[in-house]
Formats: sequence, C-alpha cells, structure tokens
Amino acid sequence: MTDEEIMAEAIREAKKGFPLAFPNPLVGCVVVRNGKIIARGHHAFFGGPHAEVNAAKKCSYNLRNASVYVTMEPCSSRAKKTPPCTDLLLSLRPEKVIIGDLDPNPIHNGRGVEILRKSGIKVKIGVLKKECQNLNPAFYKNMKEKLPYIILKMAQSINGKIADNRGNSKWISSEKSREYSHKFLRAACGCIISGVETIIKDDPELTVRNVKIQSQPAVCVIDPNLRTPISARIFKAKRTVYLISLYNAKNKNYPENVSVIRMGKKEDGFQIIDILKTLYEKGIRSVLVEGGGKTHGQFIRSGLFDKIFVFISPMIIGQENAISSVSWTDRFSPKKGLGIAVKPEDIKSLGPDLLLIYGKK
Ligand SMILES: NC(=O)c1ccc[n+]([C@@H]2O[C@H](COP(=O)([O-])OP(=O)(O)OC[C@H]3O[C@@H](n4cnc5c(N)ncnc54)[C@H](OP(=O)(O)O)[C@@H]3O)[C@@H](O)[C@H]2O)c1
Repeated sequence: MTDEEIMAEAIREAKKGFPLAFPNPLVGCVVVRNGKIIARGHHAFFGGPHAEVNAAKKCSYNLRNASVYVTMEPCSSRAKKTPPCTDLLLSLRPEKVIIGDLDPNPIHNGRGVEILRKSGIKVKIGVLKKECQNLNPAFYKNMKEKLPYIILKMAQSINGKIADNRGNSKWISSEKSREYSHKFLRAACGCIISGVETIIKDDPELTVRNVKIQSQPAVCVIDPNLRTPISARIFKAKRTVYLISLYNAKNKNYPENVSVIRMGKKEDGFQIIDILKTLYEKGIRSVLVEGGGKTHGQFIRSGLFDKIFVFISPMIIGQENAISSVSWTDRFSPKKGLGIAVKPEDIKSLGPDLLLIYGKK
C-alpha cells in the first residue's frame, strides 16, 4: 500500500468520531507493520483519548518497526485534559510517523514534529494534506481567523420561498432532509442562530433530535427589541440562549439559561461580525444559521458565511408576499453583477428533495 492509500484509511477512521468528538477536531490514526495495517484508532469523543492512543492500545502498545499514520500532527501540549501524544510515541518508538497536516494552532504548529525528529524518529509531513484539512474546516478557520465557522441552512420551494405569506413553513423539506440536518448540521454546530421573526412565527425548539450528542447546541436570536416571548420553546432545553439586543431594549423575565447581550447597531442593523466575535469569545466555534430570509441576507451581504446548504423541495409557493430564503433591502446592491456569486460544491438527493451545497467564491 502507498502512503496515500494508508492515509486515506486514516481519514476514513477519523470520520468515525463524528459528531461526538466535536468541538475537538476529527483525527484518525493507522499503524502499519511489514506493509500490513495492524491497528486503527480515532478520537471518539470530546475530551477522550486521542487517535494515536486508541490505535496504540489495539497493538498492545508495541510499535517497534511500525509506521504510524496520523491525519493531524500529534499533540505536544501538557496544558490540556489528556497527556501529549508525542510522549506516547517517544516511549513506543515507531520507526516512522507520517502526518497528513501540521496542527493549525500556531502555538502547537510544528512542535510535535520537532520533538519526534529530535528523538530520532523519522517524520514525513503532508500526505493527503488537503483531504486531512477538509476533515476539520471549522478547526482550521478558528485557528486562522478567530471566528466561528458559519453554515447557512435553508429549506425552500423551487421558487426560493421558505414560508408562505402568513409565515407558514411546516413542512417544506422532507423527513429525510430534516433527518440529514439534525445529524450533519445541528449535531456538529456550537450554536444555532435565528432571526426573531422566525422564533415568533414558528416557535421552533432548535434542538438536535434522534442523534447521540454531548450537549445541545446553544441558540442565538438576533432580537434588537427583545420581542422573543418568555414562553418560547427554545428556552426548554438545557443550554444557553443568547439574545442579541439593543442597549435600550426592555428586558423580560426570561429563564435563567438566557444571556441578553447588548449591542449598538448601524443603519442596516447589528453588524454580523460583532455578533460572531462575541459568540467566539463565549467559546462558540461553529454556527448554523437557520434564518429566516432577512437574517440569511445579513450574513450573505456581509460576506460572512463558509457554506450554504439549500434543501429544495419539489413545490412552488406562489403568493406575492411569500418569504424568500434570502432578502435584503432595496438600498443594498452588490458590488458586481446582479447578485452575490457563490461556488457550487455538491448536490445530493434526499428523498424527494435536492440538497445543494455552496461555498464562498
Ligand atoms: N424553511 C426554512 O428553512 C425556514 C427557516 C427559518 C425560518 N423560516 C421562515 O422565515 C420566516 C421569517 O423570516 P424573516 O425573513 O421574516 O425574518 P427573520 O430573518 O427570522 O427575522 C428577521 C428579524 O430579525 C432581526 N434581525 C435579523 N438580523 C438582524 C441584524 N443584523 N440587525 C438587527 N436585527 C436583525 C430583526 O428584528 P426586528 O424586526 O425586531 O428589528 C429582523 O426583522 C418565518 O415565517 C419562518 O417560518 C423558514
């Protein structure tokens, strides 16, 4: 087997950690001796043993004459819950360590490699580097930009409507699409963001259902005038609910898990970057924006999104005042062309629906 083929195995192994490893990165490890895979391991849950430890366990901690393939540079820090993987590798002394990509955290980047090389272990870096990076887009963005990773999600008719003229939106997408969104979008985000109009019209729970997770994602409602009712269903789950409001908005007798964050706004509303920076400071590393249309519009026109997931249901909602999946005021016009261009990345069939995935251009 080639290094690339074995690293592809390590990537497959890493994916088994989804979604329980979150918000830690997905990491996979494969141990090879005499051209044969003798053990595999992945980081299975947040705060749990790392991929290298789980793989080493399976070969009775004997790594002599073996090569260790790992999707991300082994950790070398002592300032965390688990001991450094570099210590483990130094004691087990594999012949070679092959790494997909360096740790993107500037504090750790390259340190693990240096420790291994100094001790005489051979190290090769960059095998399937892009694919290894793609395992953890949020982790890379967090380390580089100190901002949460942002996914926008909309379930719409083929003519781009997310609700009829009275605000009814149940259900536009199929059960299969909703299952997908719980499993792959909500379960892997730290916070679900919504505009206050959606909370008033739909009274959604905004929880992850039927998926094993460590804890429910936080919720953040953009609500300048604190119109969110105290009876809203978002308050029922055990998690924090942030309400982004103006300094002078009148507070209500909200439950204890509510944190009202006060901000100033410009002519066109709160600056999305201010909201994202605040959430990042509170430990939120990825957000899922579940509309409605005005809220999506604010994120898109600010250029603050990483992916857009559009679930298209085979239906047409035709009222003149039906709600669009993205809207902004007529005063705003994009710098170039008719609209904001995005990059098509993937398409999936989910029962009767289509899921289109876009990235930033
Ligand atoms: N099918 C789907 O996927 C889906 C998902 C979600 C929602 N929906 C539907 O969407 C409809 C609601 O959409 P919508 O476009 O009317 O409203 P929305 O986006 O839910 O909420 C808009 C409101 O949120 C506040 N807001 C959002 N961004 C802001 C910013 N940057 N600065 C200040 N305030 C901000 C404003 O509140 P104030 O008005 O208080 O200033 C604004 O009017 C509902 O009918 C719901 O059923 C459908």
